[in-house]
Amino acid sequence: MSLLPRRRFLRRFGLGLAVSALPGRRWRETILWEAAAATPDAPAVVTLSLADFPALGSDLGSVRLTVNPVGPDHFPRGNIYPFLVNRVSEGVFRAMSAECRHAGCVVESYDELSEGIRCPCHGSVYDITGQRIVGPAPDGSSLGPLPLIYDGIGSLQVTIPGLAFRIAPSRVDLGGGGGRLRLQFPTLPWVTYEVHFRERVSDPGLPVPFSSSPEGPPDQWTVTGDELPATVYVAPPGGSGFFEISMLLLEE
Ligand code: FES
Repeated sequence: MSLLPRRRFLRRFGLGLAVSALPGRRWRETILWEAAAATPDAPAVVTLSLADFPALGSDLGSVRLTVNPVGPDHFPRGNIYPFLVNRVSEGVFRAMSAECRHAGCVVESYDELSEGIRCPCHGSVYDITGQRIVGPAPDGSSLGPLPLIYDGIGSLQVTIPGLAFRIAPSRVDLGGGGGRLRLQFPTLPWVTYEVHFRERVSDPGLPVPFSSSPEGPPDQWTVTGDELPATVYVAPPGGSGFFEISMLLLEE
């Protein structure tokens, strides 16, 4: 999200607006991470709580995360490749794209038994750091590294390109002093979006229902992206606060 519409919105309507991603594991579990995009062109920074990923509690643990599913052909159903977060050793983590360097299939998470990250398409294998070990991926290649910061306590910040987006808020007057907030944002195919609300930036965001028309009943909770802009209408719950457009995250 651009900071510009956020500031403009704060001035005009007295409500805040933030854009972030609040995914749920396999579509149903609790919020695992939050991504906030500073500008439309900036990559999103995803914060992961280690407590939410037991696999990362031991060395050689590995998780694969994505905002759009992976198809049976082993390619993303959508625009965004999954990414891996691997624990190399105590306090040492690596994040990397799951795009195989041979022909672009989505690789699996690190498998301790076979000691590698395997590509299901033609058998390339990478080590825990993403370096190719064997297979048709080019010699010396590695899975695309993603910037990762470990706070030394319990959270990781991973920078994910391609997730940032701009949101355009505007007010819709319905007469009688009533009104709704219209939120427009671009969508990525197969990504599921929710609207969250928080009173303070530091609060956890809670999903709120919305409608797809200015006067329709607010009885929808998710939008599945199709590469076209989405428009949703929410009723400000009173007082001030922040609406967010959130993405759901899958752990596969
Ligand atoms: S696409 Fe991964 S080995 Fe061919």
